[in-house]
Amino acid sequence: MSFTKIWSLIVVLVATAVAPRGAFAQASSTTVTCLSSFDWMNNSLGQNPCLVASYLTSECLNYTLTIAPVTPGGTPISPNLDPTSYDNANDCLCSTVTYSVYGACHACQNATVESWSVWSFNCFTSLTHHSVYPLNIPNGTAIPHCAYLDVTDDMFNTTAAQLDGDSPESTSTQFFNYAITQFDSKKFER
Ligand SMILES: *[C@@H]1O[C@H](CO)[C@@H](O)[C@H](O)[C@H]1NC(C)=O
Ligand SMILES: *[C@@H]1O[C@H](CO)[C@@H](O)[C@H](O)[C@H]1NC(C)=O
Ligand SMILES: *[C@@H]1O[C@H](CO)[C@@H](O)[C@H](O)[C@H]1NC(C)=O
Ligand SMILES: *[C@@H]1O[C@H](CO)[C@@H](O)[C@H](O)[C@H]1NC(C)=O
Ligand SMILES: *[C@@H]1O[C@H](CO)[C@@H](O)[C@H](O)[C@H]1NC(C)=O
Repeated sequence: MSFTKIWSLIVVLVATAVAPRGAFAQASSTTVTCLSSFDWMNNSLGQNPCLVASYLTSECLNYTLTIAPVTPGGTPISPNLDPTSYDNANDCLCSTVTYSVYGACHACQNATVESWSVWSFNCFTSLTHHSVYPLNIPNGTAIPHCAYLDVTDDMFNTTAAQLDGDSPESTSTQFFNYAITQFDSKKFER
């Protein structure tokens, strides 16, 4: 063969269209009616915190989680380690933003609010997010500003939340990422 030179040009184009988690948002549902004295907890869409909690939780599930009223002696939702459970530890439930919205949801029913340490007991460090909701905010809701306050004294602080208020809210950030990776390898042999 006359080939004294082997030219090898390998161009690999990998185009990945990454649909971020949360792009296919679930709807939301709650059967909780907050006491009217907690109307200030509503977002600008008139959604009470239990409805917002349903949005923020359902984002990690494949279905809409209906948030029911806290019943005395009942077990409120909080992250656990049972992967077959609707409330297994995940990025949604282990965010302080979600915790705060649940705190508001419980407070507005005049129910006991769980401490952060109890709430997050089963949250691995890698799943825990302070003042961040790590997924795309579901379309159809708006997260009050006060939900982003970090937890101090291990507890959702209703007073601090009311002082901080609703505005500015955070809303849907749905978008698609296009990552294009190019591997360009040239090889000469004589
Ligand atoms: C708050 O939301 C609830 C329903 O989620 C609604 O009944 C109530 O009127 C709202 N209040 C305000 C002030 O938006
Ligand atoms: C949701 O559905 C997808 C595809 O069916 C599956 O891969 C994923 O594990 C499901 N997630 C949950 C939390 O059930
Ligand atoms: C809230 O709960 C406390 C004690 O748990 C009770 O004394 C108070 O009446 C309740 N308030 C309302 C508006 O239900
Ligand atoms: C977001 O929700 C609004 C109102 O429900 C709807 O009109 C709009 O099409 C939705 N956008 C996406 C990207 O789903
Ligand atoms: C709750 O927040 C208020 C207002 O920021 C603050 O004065 C109070 O000390 C806080 N309470 C706790 C238990 O952290």
